[in-house]
Amino acid sequence: MINSDDLFKKIKTDQITFEELDAADELASFRSQFVIEDPDLIYLDGNSLGRLPEKTKELAQEIVSEQWGSRLIRSWNERWLEDTVRIGDKVGVVVGAKPGEVVLADSTTVCLFKAAVSALLSKPTRSVILTDDQNFPSDIQALKAAASTVSRDHKVVVIESNGLEAPVEALLGAIDETVALVSLSQVSYRSGCCWDLSTITQKAHQVGAKVLWDLSHSVGVVPIDLRKDEIDLAIGCTYKYLNGGPGAPAFIYISENCHDLINPIAGWYGSRDPFGFDPDSQPQNDNRRFLTGTPPLVSTLLIEPGVDLVIEAGVNNIRSKSVALSERFLFKAEKELLPLGFSVASPVEHKKRGSHLSFSHDSAMAIGQALINEQATIPDVRPPDLVRFGFAPLYTTFGEIEESIDRVKEVISGGGISRWKDAMPVVP
Ligand SMILES: Cc1ncc(COP(=O)(O)O)c(C=O)c1O
Repeated sequence: MINSDDLFKKIKTDQITFEELDAADELASFRSQFVIEDPDLIYLDGNSLGRLPEKTKELAQEIVSEQWGSRLIRSWNERWLEDTVRIGDKVGVVVGAKPGEVVLADSTTVCLFKAAVSALLSKPTRSVILTDDQNFPSDIQALKAAASTVSRDHKVVVIESNGLEAPVEALLGAIDETVALVSLSQVSYRSGCCWDLSTITQKAHQVGAKVLWDLSHSVGVVPIDLRKDEIDLAIGCTYKYLNGGPGAPAFIYISENCHDLINPIAGWYGSRDPFGFDPDSQPQNDNRRFLTGTPPLVSTLLIEPGVDLVIEAGVNNIRSKSVALSERFLFKAEKELLPLGFSVASPVEHKKRGSHLSFSHDSAMAIGQALINEQATIPDVRPPDLVRFGFAPLYTTFGEIEESIDRVKEVISGGGISRWKDAMPVVP
């Protein structure tokens, strides 16, 4: 068992081999539930786009041929309306929500915008949204759009970090009675630093502000209990550690204490009687009021197998393995990559991280491209200088951790940087 104390103590030593770690991995069998066509390909980008679950492949065929092809529009009444609610509830299980509290809708950015505007409108005498510079740029753009939608006086204040750790003290110090909303990514897409939901939420509530958490990089890999931590609003991607598929719809959570919040983009799917075709139809009296138009049905249905795998494995077990994988990677990287011009760009304490590690290097882009194109290893790069390695415990192995470091060394010693120094892929 990876999380036994004895074993864990050895992870950052040479007293244990990757074979022993893989043999002790209780989640190892989950790997076979994903499509892995090339066993030599090391995929360390599940924090961007999760792998394809085998079941999703079969389900896609069934949805397209049967549910759409044969049953046509009858599927809405026969199953689709209920399916979307059921799958939202399953995501709710992963984040500690009650049935009905999580709905699947739109992209993450659109969900964030809706949630932010609704929170701002509920605090008409306050004009500040607080966030930090480790937040996802699209989130900050959407927060700014939300602020300017509500009034010319609203503004987004971005707290500076040291680029590595969550700026906890600075953020806590900035939460005062002018703040309407605190909105942060629980795990930063850059450094992987992880906020403590409860500390920030409590302080925000003390001054009467609301919180809106982006759980994109934590859902399915970091234990989350939205109800226990009294979170007001949360949104997140389903295509990273939930393995929902490219462009799969996001989720939005609205707590019971926010029952008065209004969806600023009203539409028929959020109304009480969508098929009454009444322009005066009132919003749903549950969280479905945050829906707008027809959900992207095929993508929504395809989320389910990935979420089922997370529920079956258990987020606490996934977290234990995530910590073990990243600690092992860090142990090897500190010894073998730092002398090659890399420096650690993530918190070194595992309690302060999500499930990826970032390293800065002057030739980050060239290294990323050489790894992908010459070494069958897929990390990603966040400009200007970060190479990110993501660990998805349902399919990443300890063997891959060891091998990926060797492949990075091979890129550097084999001249990969000069061969790829001019590469500028659109998606880095
Ligand atoms: C933390 C975070 N928030 C938001 C987004 C944007 O998601 P979407 O493109 O679904 O709006 C991403 C995308 O990777 C992300 O990592």
